[in-house]
Amino acid sequence: MFQSIRRPIQERMRCLESIDQQDRLNGTQRLQRLRQIPPETGRFLALMLAGSPEGEVVEIGTSAGYSALWLVLACEASQRKLTTFEVLPEKIALARETFKMAEVENRVTLIQGDARHYLSKMEKIAFCFLDAEKEVYQECYEMVIPKLVKGGLLIADNAINHQKTLQPLLDWALSDERIDAMIVPIGKGELVCRKI
Ligand SMILES: C[S@@+](CC[C@H](N)C(=O)[O-])C[C@H]1O[C@@H](n2cnc3c(N)ncnc32)[C@H](O)[C@@H]1O
Repeated sequence: MFQSIRRPIQERMRCLESIDQQDRLNGTQRLQRLRQIPPETGRFLALMLAGSPEGEVVEIGTSAGYSALWLVLACEASQRKLTTFEVLPEKIALARETFKMAEVENRVTLIQGDARHYLSKMEKIAFCFLDAEKEVYQECYEMVIPKLVKGGLLIADNAINHQKTLQPLLDWALSDERIDAMIVPIGKGELVCRKI
């Protein structure tokens, strides 16, 4: 998976990493920033997805498609497709460009809209990466957990860098009897939940 990342994917990853780094340095407004995961989180997500059971692969919060590229690597390895949701039209345009330039359009369904309007219609989710506004985490969590297949994973970003805001959800998840959960100290902190 990581040994043979195709050149178009690698090039788009490098380009987005560079834009994201600039965003953080030059005070770009929050809504315009890519706010993407660091590469080590991408590798972690791809490894987790590669070992997940059969079922839908979902991402909530596409931005420009950087984390989606890591998820696509694992989808390619297991002949699956990613469905990723984004609300902002400017980010949708960037993500479309990403998937075209990286030549992975056949592996991704990009949906413009609030993921909460679509999650209720989904069935048998094997893997969900949650990386949206913190205000919607709890609601997305409650929509995704019942839809996870046995052994399916929900991974939520920002469990450490936004710990205070997310504390009620973290407390709830860590004692939720439907899942096994832990916080993994990688990148911005990943809440990993596995359906029992
Ligand atoms: C932190 S960024 C995602 C970064 C991306 N996962 C990456 O690492 O490359 C969060 C994104 O979620 C989007 N978003 C926020 N709430 C959403 C919702 N309810 N449904 C879909 N997208 C949402 C925002 O517009 C923003 O672009």
